[in-house]
Amino acid sequence: MDDYWAEHFGAYHGGDDRLDASSDSFWWGYATTVLTEAGPLAGRTVLDAGFGSGAMLHLAAAAGATCTGIDLESAVAAFDDSHPSIDVEIGDLRDTAGWTVDRADVVWCVESIHFVDDPVETAYSLWARVAAGGRLVVTFADSRSPLIEKVRLDHGGRYHGVHPGALDALGRNLPACARFEIRDLRIDADQIVRPFRIGPHDPTARPPHRLLFTALKGA
Ligand SMILES: C[S@@+](CC[C@H](N)C(=O)[O-])C[C@H]1O[C@@H](n2cnc3c(N)ncnc32)[C@H](O)[C@@H]1O
Repeated sequence: MDDYWAEHFGAYHGGDDRLDASSDSFWWGYATTVLTEAGPLAGRTVLDAGFGSGAMLHLAAAAGATCTGIDLESAVAAFDDSHPSIDVEIGDLRDTAGWTVDRADVVWCVESIHFVDDPVETAYSLWARVAAGGRLVVTFADSRSPLIEKVRLDHGGRYHGVHPGALDALGRNLPACARFEIRDLRIDADQIVRPFRIGPHDPTARPPHRLLFTALKGA
């Protein structure tokens, strides 16, 4: 997993290793954060939109969830689909209407929604995949983040952050949304104690690297 994050983030910090987010502690902390936002998983269904290597699917399955992962063909082909509680399907985040999967109790989209042109619109469409009483967890890049221009260049412009104001509007417009929260994640300059910090969204603070969006659907 270290290699995965080293590849994913390694190019983004421009040689400034204070912003190196490739460590195991970054990954496990990040995964734990998403799992915490997701709430109880035992006996629930999980839809992982953009599952990548599938690490989050395995964590959810280990916690007792029945899981479906959606990703592009290359990720589905690379995934070992032998786990009895995990199913994976080819699907495009830009066309969630074309997915054949059912609604799920928990839908998450981790480090993937930046790759669509309109992350907020995609998050809105993912909300339709959340069952009554369920929740949506999405990690967004903040469009004002100090890292985002480097990442955009790396991806030939196909990388899109969002402004927290757009997420606030999203939460207010989600049908049957009982509650939503936006939280700020900042990668620590000094990663000796911990790789990042998370706190309530603070519009007066310097822009965070990530915005964690969690919305609960009414029963
Ligand atoms: C950085 S990886 C994150 C994977 C995983 N969620 C994680 O956190 O480890 C981004 C994933 O998004 C997927 N992805 C990018 N664009 C996509 C699209 N339009 N539809 C579906 N998946 C997409 C990629 O194939 C890749 O697996």
